[in-house]
Amino acid sequence: MFDDLRGFLNILKSQSELKEISGADWDLEIGAITELLAADASAPALLFDGIKGYSPGFRIATNLFATEQRSALVLRLPSELKGLDLVRAWREKIRGGIKPIDPIDAKDAPVKENIVEGDDVDLYRFPVPRWHEWDGGRYIGTGSMTITRDPDEKWVNLGTYRVMLHDRNTTSFYISVGRHAAIMREKYWSRGRPCPAAICLGQDPTLWAMSVATIPWGISEYGAAGWLRGGPVEVTSAQETGLPIPAAAEIVLEGEACPPSVEARDPIPAAAEIVLEGEAFPPSVEAREEGPFGEWMGYYVGHGKTGKRPNVPVFKVRRIYYRNDPILQGNPPFKPPIPFGVGEHILVSAAIWDAVEREVPDVRGVWVAKEASTWGALFTVISLRQRYPGHAKQAACVAAGCRAGAYMGRFYVVIDDDLDPSKMGDVLWALGTRCDPERSIDVIRETWSSEADPIISPERKGKGELLGSKALILACKPYPWYEDFPKVNRASPELLARVQEKWGSILRNG
Ligand SMILES: Cc1cc2nc3c(=O)[nH]c(=O)nc-3n(C[C@H](O)[C@H](O)[C@H](O)COP(=O)(O)O)c2cc1C
Repeated sequence: MFDDLRGFLNILKSQSELKEISGADWDLEIGAITELLAADASAPALLFDGIKGYSPGFRIATNLFATEQRSALVLRLPSELKGLDLVRAWREKIRGGIKPIDPIDAKDAPVKENIVEGDDVDLYRFPVPRWHEWDGGRYIGTGSMTITRDPDEKWVNLGTYRVMLHDRNTTSFYISVGRHAAIMREKYWSRGRPCPAAICLGQDPTLWAMSVATIPWGISEYGAAGWLRGGPVEVTSAQETGLPIPAAAEIVLEGEACPPSVEARDPIPAAAEIVLEGEAFPPSVEAREEGPFGEWMGYYVGHGKTGKRPNVPVFKVRRIYYRNDPILQGNPPFKPPIPFGVGEHILVSAAIWDAVEREVPDVRGVWVAKEASTWGALFTVISLRQRYPGHAKQAACVAAGCRAGAYMGRFYVVIDDDLDPSKMGDVLWALGTRCDPERSIDVIRETWSSEADPIISPERKGKGELLGSKALILACKPYPWYEDFPKVNRASPELLARVQEKWGSILRNG
């Protein structure tokens, strides 16, 4: 098995799933090569070296989890499983809940092989790509993890939030509202303090998988990864902040997230009385424009016509730790169905399936279509055996209302149990033949969306109207005449088995 990025790449190399490329340009070429190869269902992982203008050994890895098999490897599931079977296996794994295993201090910390600090900090020593043509800059963090500690409860969060490079020691990480690091960051700021943080830029894929997964507040992704790996993650302390960083990480930036404005920084009296541990950083105030960036729904979104996000807080880098021959992990988003996380459609399908099954009987499968979005649940299909009037609509309502299904979700399609929700051919056939638009579609208005939603106009976004709508679609036999619905024109399994037995060898040999 593997417990760092290099170990994972070695496994891929031994399976001939790693392509090494020399001489590519960080400016657009690495992004475009990644996109070109990721479109193939059996896409190899890519390791770029000898990058234009950079010393050999300063490398970038992309397309790491582009196939279901590699996602299964990372999620510690059997790699021969595919589609719905993978979703079933993940549900089984998480049935008893996450039982965190705390990280331990490492004896050896390869991440500290090189330490650069103070005026020597220069992020341009790494071949940071400009991934897409209309990106507003170079993005050092796309497959990264931001590490922060809650000032009250002391637990450590890891979350993946994209990191733009602004100058030699300044980056920003863009965090949506409600994310755990955003909550922690604001707690520090409201007490007049910058938020100590570390950004890890290449790490054990299983740890990264937990960093992008929805893990409840209070449970550290370190503990979750320990549980998934079956043993603790080894960490070492960052010098100034004391934050635990993965001992076998490729590159880690240590520093502070500054409040974007004086208002955000000035302490509120009651909170200011709480004493924070650790050395105080000078409370500077700084914000930059962030983006535009080619995003996960397949568009450049953001604010107004420029697509830039104004006033994004910066992260000042005080120290860099990196291994010899460091590997920057790249997970840039592209137009779906190119995946950019790790098995996200498996995790989201499993979460919606769990929620629907808690309320509704006889669910046979739930699948979020990668073709609509590789992250989130824009198009969710539920297959079930209808048992009573209203059963199918009830399932659609739960999928549309549960946490995993509600966020930016648009379409919830219910099909019968003779069809496979993960086969878009089956789903379209059901829509074409078992759905009567006039009677089978309901629209729910004013639902949970996000500023990443391309269908919300710039005017509405400007007014903070981040609202969408959802369609509940019954593409299943109408329950009142279920038994009388036309028979499917398909040979029965018995007939097929008989023919197979009699003709199989001739048909196979052509
Ligand atoms: C490749 C990738 C990039 C992501 N980028 C961002 C981002 O820029 N900002 C953000 O808020 N969430 C982003 N996410 C989603 C979060 O990582 C995810 O919701 C995670 O669970 C957040 O962790 P938290 O709940 O600990 O805050 C990204 C996810 C992936 C897979």
